[in-house]
Amino acid sequence: MSSNKELTQEKKIVVSIQDLFISFGDNHVLNGFSLELFEGENLVVMGKSGCGKSIMIKCLIGLQSVDSGSINIMGTEIANLEKEQLDDLRTEIGFLFQGSALYDSMSVRENLDFPLRRHTNKFGVLNNTDAMIIEALRSVGLESAIDLMPSELSGGMKRRIALARTLILKPKIILYDEPTTGLDPITSKEIVLLMKSIQETYKTSSIIITHDMDCARAISNRMILLIDGIAYVTGTFEELSKSIDPKVKAFFK
Ligand SMILES: Nc1ncnc2c1ncn2[C@@H]1O[C@H](COP(=O)(O)OP(=O)(O)OP(=O)(O)O)[C@@H](O)[C@H]1O
Ligand SMILES: [Mg+2]
Repeated sequence: MSSNKELTQEKKIVVSIQDLFISFGDNHVLNGFSLELFEGENLVVMGKSGCGKSIMIKCLIGLQSVDSGSINIMGTEIANLEKEQLDDLRTEIGFLFQGSALYDSMSVRENLDFPLRRHTNKFGVLNNTDAMIIEALRSVGLESAIDLMPSELSGGMKRRIALARTLILKPKIILYDEPTTGLDPITSKEIVLLMKSIQETYKTSSIIITHDMDCARAISNRMILLIDGIAYVTGTFEELSKSIDPKVKAFFK
């Protein structure tokens, strides 16, 4: 409990979402959702399927427009940014999509090369990106897969390669959308350990969307439950697991 307090009192806010509203016609998905991500923490967001978790996370990288509300990333209001400035900011934010979203027609090497070539504003024009690709693959334990195609990889390997592709841009913030879904329990555990080692090694701050309680327990410094379009409750895993609120208890059965 005290570690949570220390976190909120001493650490700076790297992402702040305030009063976010998003609707699709009559489907009011987010109804005043707010969130603060502190530097260096792993913040888990949980909620029922279809409650707006992926939509919320997509707002952070400008993939989803908002009806109202403000989003501030590392001191910058993203609504005020021109497209180029938003692109620059995006290089600071790694996004692990729901599923792995590798390019099937490209080898692992090409999949990792692609973001580097796209973001020449951050890295300059690179003649040889192999060293960076190998370093990123090493950090997920898959150097040996460099010349494989996605079709030759298992689900767990794909997830690791997707993570390497995220890490290669050296992001300050990582957004994980269901990082363990579809993986067996042992592979899930390996991915969770990898995410923890990324937090420690690269001092990243992360928002992690997950349905997986074991993942949430192992990875979270704090959690938010997204219910009825708002941050219904916030606290550590331990605090929330002791809640007597039926809506919160339903998650911990
Ligand atoms: N482009 C869109 N147009 C219309 N409705 C959309 C669009 N994108 C998402 N929605 C709706 O918004 C709601 C939230 O979707 P979202 O993908 O954020 O759910 P989620 O919480 O991530 O669910 P899951 O846990 O299944 O991934 C859903 O009802 C979905 O149908
Ligand atoms: Mg989703």
